[in-house]
Amino acid sequence: MLQSDSKKYHIITFGCQMNERDSETLAGYLEERGYTPAGSHEEADLVLINTCSVRDNADKRFFGTLGQIKKHKEHDPDFVIGVCGCMMQQQYIVDEIKEKYPWVDIVFGTHNIHVFPEMLDEVLISREKQLEKARREAARKQEPGEEDGTPFRYRQKTMIDVWKEGGDVVEGMPYKRLYDYKAFVNIMFGCNNFCTYCIVPYTRGRERSREAANIKAEVERLAAGGVKEVTLLGQNVNSYRGKDVDFTDLIYMLAQIDGLERIRFMTSHPKDISDKLINAFGDCGKLCKFIHLPVQSGSDEVIRRMNRHYTRDQYLRIIDKLRTAAPDICISTDIIVGFPGETEAQFADTLDLVERVGYDSAFTFLYSIRPGTPAAKYPDQIPEEVKHERFDRLVEAVNRHSLARNKAYVGRTVEVMAEGASKRDAGRLGGRTDGFKLVNFDAGPAAGGLIRPGNLCKVKITEAKTFSLVGELVTDRG
Ligand code: 5AD
Ligand code: SF4
Repeated sequence: MLQSDSKKYHIITFGCQMNERDSETLAGYLEERGYTPAGSHEEADLVLINTCSVRDNADKRFFGTLGQIKKHKEHDPDFVIGVCGCMMQQQYIVDEIKEKYPWVDIVFGTHNIHVFPEMLDEVLISREKQLEKARREAARKQEPGEEDGTPFRYRQKTMIDVWKEGGDVVEGMPYKRLYDYKAFVNIMFGCNNFCTYCIVPYTRGRERSREAANIKAEVERLAAGGVKEVTLLGQNVNSYRGKDVDFTDLIYMLAQIDGLERIRFMTSHPKDISDKLINAFGDCGKLCKFIHLPVQSGSDEVIRRMNRHYTRDQYLRIIDKLRTAAPDICISTDIIVGFPGETEAQFADTLDLVERVGYDSAFTFLYSIRPGTPAAKYPDQIPEEVKHERFDRLVEAVNRHSLARNKAYVGRTVEVMAEGASKRDAGRLGGRTDGFKLVNFDAGPAAGGLIRPGNLCKVKITEAKTFSLVGELVTDRG
């Protein structure tokens, strides 16, 4: 790969943790070739936008960002702009880029991020050749060159390489981790579920799992380098299949690694939750007592039309079993409001389910049409004002439960993994409990300075808010 001594890069990432993780790989490639991070796109020589297409507003934000970056490109023709991620897997988006944003240099997809370094080399080499040619021409015609302040404008076509399907899992890509003490580890890619509202199976392809031995080796390396917490990532981690190793076996394998303190995972599908996994919450000390278990709707009829393959009773039984196995477990979910055809009575079933489960937190979404998915063509799309009105009622219920569940922590002492000090007050730290609750706590200016990100602290909870807890340091075990 071509080396660059002083160039700066900036990556803008939209969407989920899979995208965050892909951006770490892209940063790894760039740092391998000498690029260093820039604070913003204005300071950068190269910008990558890693896109998300899960909901309509993510599409809009991408095109808005691209519009802002155009000005930068106009001032600095050397500037390189690449776009990648889920949106690029949709042909109509790539067509729109070709037509309206022809100054984008590189377009690649979710299945071939490993081709990015080669594409970048090709762009830079082709520019160098054009520059040489223009210099020769200018010298021959005795015209003024770039030194006179006339920047040379490249006539370069957008380089596009988007693979339609994921091939074998690519191992060994470099990556630049965002944190020293925690890491995201992909265990599987893609999704076979085809929920009728969801674009992911079309943008991330079919399910593919990594070999357990490769995952274990990666986590061992991370733990040896000081990582205490890993989050295992996949669209549907419960359907992870290694050679003779299922998802729960993988958790137990990783739990043996010295130095690793916490194991988390994202995301689960209720239809694939096994009793074996539920029991692991009671059995495996390193498995964090937290599960994100998207329910999407509390109505059997809506769940069926979403193609989710469970009933509300089955879902509620899973919740009961989880709380039996690990009474302290914290549970979060995703809920979509205003799925096509959702009646008031069906929405009331969702509210009722929220009351019954009592989630610690929930991500609530307005249904958004995703072109190419079955639900986009369903009749009875719900009017925006009805969606918003239901959404507000749902958020009220969700927030009320979050606060009530947080209040139950007041007076208790919990273990918190410190994440960092507040910018304004070095003695005030933030961190997460095993149940993923955010805790802001006072350690005092002297003690605060000694607690490093990743340290496990005992914290006494003094106050509960809807989205966080407040506490005081009791002890720091390092
Ligand atoms: N509209 C609204 N929300 C959606 N999600 C996925 N697709 C859509 C859509 N078309 C939500 C689901 C999923 C989360 C990541 O995003 O709740 O679990
Ligand atoms: Fe989308 Fe459903 Fe797959 Fe989740 S399980 S990524 S919601 S298709």
